[in-house]
Amino acid sequence: MMHRKPVFAANWKMNHGPTDARAFMHRFLALTPRQQDRTTIFFPSALTFATVAEAVKERLDLMIGVQNVHQEPQGAFTGENSVLMARDAGARVVLVGHSERRHVFGESDETTAKKCALVAEARLIPMLCVGETLEEREAGATASVVERQLSAGIAGLDDQQVGAMMIAYEPVWAIGTGRTATPEDASDIHGVIRQLLVARLDVRPAAGIPILYGGSVNRGNAPILLAASDVDGLLVGGASLDPDGWSSIVRS
Ligand code: PGA
Repeated sequence: MMHRKPVFAANWKMNHGPTDARAFMHRFLALTPRQQDRTTIFFPSALTFATVAEAVKERLDLMIGVQNVHQEPQGAFTGENSVLMARDAGARVVLVGHSERRHVFGESDETTAKKCALVAEARLIPMLCVGETLEEREAGATASVVERQLSAGIAGLDDQQVGAMMIAYEPVWAIGTGRTATPEDASDIHGVIRQLLVARLDVRPAAGIPILYGGSVNRGNAPILLAASDVDGLLVGGASLDPDGWSSIVRS
């Protein structure tokens, strides 16, 4: 199997304005030496993006992305941000289909698919999030939900664009709840995702796509989850908000 660099992604959600972010980055950079063997990504709010971009500009091991973009390329969409604006601001990655977008804001598979295609066309990396609700898990539907979300997300992309994506498996019941999937559960679903990517792309290109786990990751469970087979990185919300804790996770 191809070697994949581990990916550590901080999803700050609606936390950290520019003032907090400046203090965070000052402390984080002091604690975190350059690491060529892994990729660290920050997803700050759009209002905080420039502050974080400025802080990481000399650090090639640190990437920056946006938490969401609109599904249309431009137009009269008050309050929204477009893919091209994200690229112009220096974003390299875009979170697409995060559980909160799907379940709090009602984003459909169709909308998520449009966003993935726009992001890929702009030559940014879509980090497509998939994951089942507790109800779906209890009904034994985990694999089918994840397959549906993934198939929809990649349907409009060509093989090269799919090969350049990142995927995050985030069980909805594990996000912000303190309940984490076991490393075995994560490996199982990551295996399902990998098989689907193999079916679409073939073994070698599919092997290069990082599949991250997310949902109540913290500095205690991070090394255990990362050690699980087919877990190539971590997407972290709450535990990425404190610079000391986040630095310790990205160095694990
Ligand atoms: P959490 O969030 O780490 O706070 O559970 C993860 C996410 O939603 O990306």
